[in-house]
Amino acid sequence: MRYYISDLKNYVGQKVELKGWAYNTRSSGKVKFLELRDGTGVVSCVFFKGECDESAFDTFEKITQECSVQVVGLVRKHPKHENVFEIGAQSFEVIGEAPNYPISPKEHGTDFLMENRHLWLRSKRQLAIMHLRHEIISAIRDFFDGRGFTLTDAPIFTPSACEGTSNLFETKFFDEKMYLSQSGQLYMEATAAALGKVYCFGPTFRAEKSKTRRHLIEFWMVEPEVAFNDMYDNMDLSEEFVEYIVQRCLTNRAEELRVLERDVSKLAPVKKPFPRVHYREAVDMILKENPNFINGDDFGAPDEAIVSSKFDRPVFVHHFPAAVKAFYMKEDPKDRGFAMGSDLLASEGYGEIIGGGQREDNLDILQKKIHEHGLKEEDFKWYLDLRRYGTFQHSGFGLGIERTVAWIGGLQHVRETIPFPRLYGRSYP
Ligand code: 4AD
Ligand code: MG
Repeated sequence: MRYYISDLKNYVGQKVELKGWAYNTRSSGKVKFLELRDGTGVVSCVFFKGECDESAFDTFEKITQECSVQVVGLVRKHPKHENVFEIGAQSFEVIGEAPNYPISPKEHGTDFLMENRHLWLRSKRQLAIMHLRHEIISAIRDFFDGRGFTLTDAPIFTPSACEGTSNLFETKFFDEKMYLSQSGQLYMEATAAALGKVYCFGPTFRAEKSKTRRHLIEFWMVEPEVAFNDMYDNMDLSEEFVEYIVQRCLTNRAEELRVLERDVSKLAPVKKPFPRVHYREAVDMILKENPNFINGDDFGAPDEAIVSSKFDRPVFVHHFPAAVKAFYMKEDPKDRGFAMGSDLLASEGYGEIIGGGQREDNLDILQKKIHEHGLKEEDFKWYLDLRRYGTFQHSGFGLGIERTVAWIGGLQHVRETIPFPRLYGRSYP
């Protein structure tokens, strides 16, 4: 039988065998301590002279940081701390040695840690981030699955651009020129016409030569699409979704957020409704603090920070100028020149986490937009069919997982939010 550290409370007084890695050791006279980590938690194994095998006490010195070990001992309650358990060790065995493990508890530079990402992932803080990421992903799935959405994943090899041609990752599909997907959206519009409420959840690629705290070359995005939703329904869905994710992390991942030293009082107010600000109003706010901003432009990170600093929860900015947005966005017939889309800016200056809106559903206008954006109509033949056969009002959005993990975890940089980040200038390990 295999025992895991997270289950020890059920085995108090019993003898168990644990397998894991040595996190830390210390000794004081007749007692030696091993902090054992097995992925489900960390437990103190206490070696008392007289209680454990004589040989175990002597060979304890062989344990070095991150060697793999097997420990046999009795589960008992911690003498001082409520709900903490420890192992009264009887014997242990080193499974795999780890001489000169490169990452010690002392401070290391980021480059060194990134180069050793495969090992860095074992540290306490990284474990907390990976657990948080997992919680966010399972919350996302539960949210959509519990509301009648069908998962219809999009292809990664794509013949055409969705989010503009400037950051397309070119590749080959045998002899054909192809691109890695920038977004599954166009395909979700097709499956929404088949299934009504759909989403895709997968990796996304953007060849952006920028080294910022929030850009990855390969990131994960979840993209719901709903038939007959307008841009306001889309914001309703987004805010319900983001509230659900944040509140679930607060409930289920309090310990991880504590390890990350996250000020959770800043996340508690993340409840609907979220404020909704027209692009024009947002520009007024920005110009007061950044007079160099040009009305009509897209927002840079500092501009987003100005707007989000005015609120205690995420804020929607809607009706961006159509000219700075993607070809598929519907222009508002009641607000000419502005697109029926919205970005959701996370609180505390974390910037855009969601982009989305209502799609152009008129065939003629869409054809015109495709030409205006310098795209080839033949690449979008199938996409235009959706407007030829039973066109329908529809909306959707994309939420970037890594930016969401960074925000909820209070992390400085997206590079820590994904197990093996692909950044401009980094593709190893
Ligand atoms: O705003 P974006 O480009 O929207 C789309 O791709 C739409 N087609 C989505 C849709 O409507 N179905 O990207 C959506 C989100 C951003 O808000 C951001 O969270 C994330 O994807 N994102 C990135 N995350 C990390 N690194 C990058 N380079 C990112 N680019 C976008
Ligand atoms: Mg965007």
